[in-house]
Amino acid sequence: MRTVISESAEQTKTIGRTFCASLRPGMSVGLIGELGAGKTQFVKGMALGLGIDEDEVVSPSFGLINEYEGDKKLYHVDLYRLETNAEIETLGLTDYLRGSGLCVIEWADRLGEDLALLDRIVRIEILSGNRRRFTFPEGTDIPYLEGLKTL
Ligand SMILES: Nc1ncnc2c1ncn2[C@@H]1O[C@H](COP(=O)(O)OP(=O)(O)O)[C@@H](O)[C@H]1O
Ligand SMILES: [Mg+2]
Repeated sequence: MRTVISESAEQTKTIGRTFCASLRPGMSVGLIGELGAGKTQFVKGMALGLGIDEDEVVSPSFGLINEYEGDKKLYHVDLYRLETNAEIETLGLTDYLRGSGLCVIEWADRLGEDLALLDRIVRIEILSGNRRRFTFPEGTDIPYLEGLKTL
């Protein structure tokens, strides 16, 4: 695991943007962290990395998914309102995970066992104030992250 500390929402966006550059088309990313952790800020960063206006990035208010058009498509899923854990297939997400775009899923822990089907899991913990600890999978090798503090 690779952990880094973000000290601002801006920094979280930079983390998201540089992380995005490490992904290949068709990859899926699960974000796990409590309300206010910075999952949506991280998605804004990913969007910036794809040439999408960050202001377009808002949590889907109708349905589970927003679709943004950039260098690649970005599918933005938010499972916050799920009452119980659900499977990818039941949610109708299978095709989004197979396409050539990128798919990022907030509250990915609500996928239960299907979490294992995602390519990358990023955990975000609130430490205090504006400090957040990001935990990336083993082997996440991103120059920008190397310059950040760990704790
Ligand atoms: N280091 C940080 N990273 C991300 N967001 C931060 C940070 N510090 C403060 N914030 C604030 O916390 C909130 C995070 O909101 P959001 O990204 O919507 O969280 P989530 O999607 O996880 O519920 C925003 O208001 C943001 O400005
Ligand atoms: Mg959110």
